Amino acid sequence: MEDWSARQYLKFEDERTRPPRDLLAQVPLQRPRLVVDLGCGPGNSTELLVERYPQSDIIGLDSSPDMLRKARERLPKCKFIEADIATWQPDAGTDLIFGNAVMQWLPDHPAIMRRQLEAMAPGGVLAIQMPDNTREPALRFQREVGETGPWQDHPEIKAAPRDDLPSPEAYYDLLKPACSHIDIWHTVYNHVMAAPQAITEWFKGSSLQPFLSPLDAASREKFLAAYTEKIVGAYKPRFDGKVLLRFPRLFILAVR
Ligand SMILES: C[S@@+](CC[C@H](N)C(=O)[O-])C[C@H]1O[C@@H](n2cnc3c(N)ncnc32)[C@H](O)[C@@H]1O
Repeated sequence: MEDWSARQYLKFEDERTRPPRDLLAQVPLQRPRLVVDLGCGPGNSTELLVERYPQSDIIGLDSSPDMLRKARERLPKCKFIEADIATWQPDAGTDLIFGNAVMQWLPDHPAIMRRQLEAMAPGGVLAIQMPDNTREPALRFQREVGETGPWQDHPEIKAAPRDDLPSPEAYYDLLKPACSHIDIWHTVYNHVMAAPQAITEWFKGSSLQPFLSPLDAASREKFLAAYTEKIVGAYKPRFDGKVLLRFPRLFILAVR
């Protein structure tokens, strides 16, 4: 995937930081020694970890140099490393692995989560949140535009749509044998957006990226115009002109 744009992602920082707050509120650790923020992005989720655990060693990990640059500017005292979650292994002594809005990008993330859990000592916590929104109109329209425009045969565009997440039952069966406690839940947010066009802006910072990055500037504009037209047709303004972006998310908290 092309480098993420930290600036685009942070346009909706308040809304995007609500799920990691909700996830962290459930983490049952008082004073972890080593905490790793997987897919730390521009450091917004790492900052929550630093606020909650000021005494802990906290490491932010990401594969994007642009995101890491922003994260280092934001939290100069924190350690940030460039690595790929697919191959990263936690150090012995890691008490909390926190992954907000990242695991959905790794198709084999269930096996990765199991491996990470097994690498932790008893009491270690794996806390994960992922968008579970592939059936929402905003994601369906990305697939539809990808399948119908002049770009439809581009191999990267064909590969761009994210798979549906596995069911909670599938995560339970895979992870529970490696944990003493597991909590799996969904929260559906209804984010207030200034206008339907803001939904396009939101996803330009996340799931539209794999569709847009293979395209040249003119095709990107065409893709975004076709996408926004569908969004405007489906997300109707409320009495004050604003629209609600329905956003289901899956949370998994597993204690080794
Ligand atoms: C949606 S952002 C999440 C940022 C932040 N954790 C938050 O709570 O808002 C996802 C981040 O995961 C990173 N990422 C995606 N795939 C990755 C991988 N395989 N290894 C490491 N980081 C990855 C991206 O670069 C991006 O910064």
